[in-house]
Formats: sequence, structure tokens, C-alpha cells
Amino acid sequence: MASLVFRSFVFLPMMFVLMVLTMSEAKTHVRITNDLPNNMDLTVHCKSREDNLGAHVLSYLDSYEFRFNPNIVGSTLFYCSMAWPSHTRYFNIYSFRRDGSCEWSKHVCLWRVTPEGPCIVKNLSNNQTVCYNWKKE
Ligand SMILES: *[C@@H]1O[C@H](CO)[C@@H](O)[C@H](O)[C@H]1NC(C)=O
Ligand SMILES: *[C@@H]1O[C@H](CO)[C@@H](O)[C@H](O)[C@H]1NC(C)=O
Repeated sequence: MASLVFRSFVFLPMMFVLMVLTMSEAKTHVRITNDLPNNMDLTVHCKSREDNLGAHVLSYLDSYEFRFNPNIVGSTLFYCSMAWPSHTRYFNIYSFRRDGSCEWSKHVCLWRVTPEGPCIVKNLSNNQTVCYNWKKE
């Protein structure tokens, strides 16, 4: 009896620490790659309700990556402005409802930004993408 009590006192906090560690490991990544033509730079500026990630300038085929833990209620949303010479466009680059944890690409949501809209890689073995339109302003 005493050993049972002792065990639950040790094991429950240990389980809790393990759970927290696992959850903080389970970060989702978003990686955005400049796939614009003509060697144009892409300026990416992403925000969520809590975070402003600042502006990042990407040369052709350069990437910018950020990571986060989607909140437990599944409402995590990051929106970005994407700008290149004489253009500014907007897109929700991450929505838990749409993207989950991007498990099909090892939990990295891989986006390639083209002038027509951002495309997400849906299959790492053949680089198949699904393309979206920019957000209506
Ligand atoms: C991903 O691409 C590979 C190679 O073309 C194909 O065999 C596989 O079925 C694809 N997976 C999905 C989930 O579409
Ligand atoms: C997919 O795209 C990446 C980045 O452009 C490239 O490095 C990789 O070789 C491509 N893989 C395939 C299977 O085409």
C-alpha cells in the first residue's frame, strides 16, 4: 500500500513532465519559399493574434521558417503580407482547421510563393502542391 502511494506520487508528476516535454517538442513549422519569377525579392511579414514575427526579405528560392505550438482549441491562425515590387498580397499562411500539423510533410508546412498565390507541398516524394488564391482584400 505504502509503495503504491509512493509510486503514484512519483509517477504522476513524471508523466506530467513527459507530457509537457512531448507537447513542446510537437511544434508545427511553417516554411515559406520565394518562388517568384525574375529574381524578385519577397518580403514576408506574418502575425498571429499574439505574435508579430516581423518582416523578412527573401531572395529567389530563399526560405523563412517559424515554429509554434497550435493551441489546444484549434483556433491558431497566422496571416501574412507578401510583397514584391508593386504588389502586396495577403494570405492566412497557417490555419489549424485547414492545415492541422502538416503531418504529410513531417510537420513542416512547406509553402512556395508564386505571383498567383501560395502553393503548399502535399507530397514530399513528388513535390505535388496545392495552390491557393490570395485573400480578397
Ligand atoms: C506521393 O507521391 C508518390 C510518388 O509519386 C506516390 O507513390 C504516393 O502515392 C503519393 N502519396 C500521396 C498521399 O498522394
Ligand atoms: C522537391 O523540391 C525540393 C526543393 O525545390 C528539391 O530540393 C527536391 O529535390 C524536390 N524533390 C523531388 C522529388 O522532386
